[in-house]
Amino acid sequence: RSDEEQQMIDAHQFAMDYFHHLLINTEEGESAYRYLEERGFSRELMEEYSIGWSLPNWDALVNLLLQKGYDLENLSKSGLVIQKEGAKEYFDRFRGRIMFPIKDEFGNVVGFSGRIIDANETEAKYLNSPESPIFHKSELLYHLDKARASIRKKQQVIVMEGFMDVLAAAKTGVYHCVATMGTSLTSSHIRKLRMLTNRVLICYDGDQAGMQAAVKASKMLQLEKLKTEVILLPDNMDPDDYVQANGANAFQDLLSSKGYAFLAFQMLASKKNKNFQFENDLLQYVHEVLELLATFANPLEKELYVKQLSNEVNLSVENLSRQLVKVERGMKQTTATHQQESMEIVVKSTPK
Ligand code: UTP
Ligand code: MN
Ligand code: MN
Ligand code: MN
Ligand code: MN
Repeated sequence: RSDEEQQMIDAHQFAMDYFHHLLINTEEGESAYRYLEERGFSRELMEEYSIGWSLPNWDALVNLLLQKGYDLENLSKSGLVIQKEGAKEYFDRFRGRIMFPIKDEFGNVVGFSGRIIDANETEAKYLNSPESPIFHKSELLYHLDKARASIRKKQQVIVMEGFMDVLAAAKTGVYHCVATMGTSLTSSHIRKLRMLTNRVLICYDGDQAGMQAAVKASKMLQLEKLKTEVILLPDNMDPDDYVQANGANAFQDLLSSKGYAFLAFQMLASKKNKNFQFENDLLQYVHEVLELLATFANPLEKELYVKQLSNEVNLSVENLSRQLVKVERGMKQTTATHQQESMEIVVKSTPK
């Protein structure tokens, strides 16, 4: 790591301590402290995760960093401070937000996410550090530094959508959770996880967006040959909502209950928004399931799921099996046809 990068990390560490001090020890931090308490954060948890508060001022952190002799031009490359247009002056990126430090897998602070206390339409709920020489979103998993030991011990990792969910799980003593930083799961993320375990439980938000993300993530994991299950939360809740609504024990029970197996979950997701009264929807469903089976199922699973499908859509096993063989053959054919197909889809979905 270069000197510049090391200085960025030092400055983030310094900022983390400063923000934390503001939250814990000052009057300015009181409303943030109360907000966190209302969301179930204990003092210990705030300390363990070095949560903080940034003043609403434009230059509170900038002035301190200058006093400490930091090179603000360098720090602006990490997004901690922002250069004023056309001037060699800087201002704070994070102002008036609850500060959550983001650490890499070694525990270095490489970024922040800042949450506003009062929801409003003009500002984003969370402001994150930008992609930078020390913060790579496509590689970073929130909490991996702290979760590593428990992941090894449990031989399972739970992947969540938001770091608030990971913190909610930590409140209940569940530590083997990680979250991406507002991006979808990438193969770099998966590479990091598979060094620790080959069992992944996806526990995304129970809303439409969360389910869609779970479809994508579980497909990626399955392709990378990890054992994947999905927990579906009820009533559009996310893990944090679930803990708040039902308590720690119910949450732990949910996590240790059996999740949907990969194929079962994909079928469930594919059924959503389809009405089997309509022939088109029904056939679309059959097609989607057969494609999944062709790609992911072993022979036993194929038989199992073809039978299930047969019951669901009231078509014969023989007929479905024949169709499955056709789909499999189609997939083996040259990429030329595939390219043609996907081009068609692109054209069709281009907005007018
Ligand atoms: P959610 O909207 O589900 O946030 O976004 P949350 O975890 O439930 O937060 P609370 O409970 O409302 O406080 C999930 C993730 O998407 C990214 C963040 O990484 C967040 O953890 N996100 C969301 C942003 O980066 N910016 C936003 O404005 C919103
Ligand atoms: Mn780098
Ligand atoms: Mn969400
Ligand atoms: Mn959420
Ligand atoms: Mn939430």
